Amino acid sequence: MTGRIHDEDIAQVRERIRIDDVVREYVAIKPAGGGSFKGLCPFHDERSPSFHVTPSKGMFYCFGCQEGGDAITFLQKMDHLSFTEAIEKLAAKFGVTLRYVEGNAGIARQQGQRARLIAAHRAAADFFTAQLKTPEASIARTFLDERGFAPESWSQFSLGYAPKSWDGLTKHLRSQGFSDEEMLVGGLVSQGNRGVYDRFRGRLVWPIRELGGEVVGFGARRLHDDDEGPKYLNTPETPLYKKSQVLYGIDLARREISKAQSVVVVEGYTDVMACHLAGVPTAVATCGTAFGADHIRVLRRLLMDDDRMRGEVIFTFDGDEAGRRAALKAFGDDQKFVSQTFVAVEPNGLDPCDLRLQHGDSAVVGLVEAKVPLFEFAIKSTLTHYDIESAEGRINALREAAPIVANIKDPALRPEYVRRLAGWLGLEEVAVKAAMGQVRSAPATPSAKVARAQAPAASGHAAPSTDPMMVLQREALKCALQEPELVATWYASVESGAYPHPAYAQLHEAIMAAGGPAAGLGGAEWIEAVLAVCPDDDVRRGVRALAVEPLPVRGQVDSRYTTSVIASLLVKDASRRIEALRGRVQRADEGGADRDVLFGELMALEAYRRELREQADT
Ligand code: CTP
Ligand code: MN
Repeated sequence: MTGRIHDEDIAQVRERIRIDDVVREYVAIKPAGGGSFKGLCPFHDERSPSFHVTPSKGMFYCFGCQEGGDAITFLQKMDHLSFTEAIEKLAAKFGVTLRYVEGNAGIARQQGQRARLIAAHRAAADFFTAQLKTPEASIARTFLDERGFAPESWSQFSLGYAPKSWDGLTKHLRSQGFSDEEMLVGGLVSQGNRGVYDRFRGRLVWPIRELGGEVVGFGARRLHDDDEGPKYLNTPETPLYKKSQVLYGIDLARREISKAQSVVVVEGYTDVMACHLAGVPTAVATCGTAFGADHIRVLRRLLMDDDRMRGEVIFTFDGDEAGRRAALKAFGDDQKFVSQTFVAVEPNGLDPCDLRLQHGDSAVVGLVEAKVPLFEFAIKSTLTHYDIESAEGRINALREAAPIVANIKDPALRPEYVRRLAGWLGLEEVAVKAAMGQVRSAPATPSAKVARAQAPAASGHAAPSTDPMMVLQREALKCALQEPELVATWYASVESGAYPHPAYAQLHEAIMAAGGPAAGLGGAEWIEAVLAVCPDDDVRRGVRALAVEPLPVRGQVDSRYTTSVIASLLVKDASRRIEALRGRVQRADEGGADRDVLFGELMALEAYRRELREQADT
């Protein structure tokens, strides 16, 4: 539109505006008393709501960042619109027809870069949509059909087709008055030797919109056999498109996410479509990148309730291993978020799109309903690696799962998972706490390592000793080198500290550096692997000696011997730590809080040692 909007019409728009309705499209707000609302400020990053909206005054104000104004300034800031554009958007929303005053068209054309890029994307999206109907696009229509997407859904998601030509879109946008420069900045075209050319060619195209509904980029899937590009091609980073923030489907899911206080994160464009069509309208997907902290920020605003984020985030993963990796990674992120995070894994590795295709809409709904809390998922999938029917398996599972529980920061949740882990393993809670206590105990300090490396005993590798402690350490190393398969699970619990003798500690470190007995190697191959990582000839001599020194067993070596050796070593190590703790308990102030904590750790460690002793004695 050129020209100035009629003053009367602007006044009418102002009259009809309900600022809370405008704000609600971007931010979840809750009544805050006195007819006001509050929510998380969209203009700065915050955890508790300082952003207030007062409909009676038509104003918003953030006590955190001091942004404030009316609905028009809100939209201008939010969507980076000019005053005129904000009025146009509001007029459309509140049903006011605008009249334009002739003249001074120059001002209207002076739009900011962002508005120009948005307009270019809108034009591009329309172009792609029209192309989906052409004969050339039959390959795209067939693709959609085969994925179970009926034509009605194509328009619901504004799907399009980018023709195979090098300049189809370029020519179209030029004819609409967009410059090559603008197309380039917007990532719609690429720079070639002789000018620009279409970025997306011969692909099915999904427009990617931001919260407010503006198209800011595209995701495009390869269709043609002769296309040597990647399977999916997305818009590159542009002033509009930040891949760490965009969530495909957020414009469609926004309201439902706020209403249900729940969001489902899936992996692909087709999965978002499948979910929405199947009756999971809260689904969104990242676009060619992992879900990260920036995505959380976008969602936080929609999910927040009162002073906290209460909403739940459900991740779907096609396959256990991918889910497990993603879940464990999430522990590194913001845990406020993690404690409301759930995981839904399709056991047969089907993504929501395939699931809907093979088993119908209800299966997709069912997948989401079968969500499991992230903590539970992470812990349980760790346990599946062990045979928890055996005492040995339980101890090792505990060793691996305990750090996960220990890392739960929510003080209300951690004891709950101590209980549950104990329950899943059929162990006493105290054993779980013990294993967690080990996690907190400091690993060998660098200075201790240096001291050890300099110790003269480092040359005494192959010399046998009659000291029972030395014999035990030596046997443990022999087991690890000669019978890796038998000790694989148990040896995973052995730490360097279990080898007070520096020469033996070095051998242990070489064994672990080679991947440990659980690496899956055996015989000469395993010994070669360990030799390959030895720091010097002394250590190599030690490996060669212990690799052949006979084990004191008559006939075939079985796991009874190796297990009792490793368990005994672990018992000795636990005893060493118990002694150290006892000393600290004695030194701690009588009646002090510290003493209670240390004493609790001591009891727990002793319980763990009892478990190990049973193994050592069998
Ligand atoms: N993706 C991507 N780049 C790729 C492959 C995938 O960015 N080379 C992203 C896309 O966002 C895509 C999502 O990962 O939507 C899921 O990928 P995939 O499961 O491979 O897509 P599908 O369309 O389900 O593929 P398929 O035909 O194999 O079912
Ligand atoms: Mn897929």
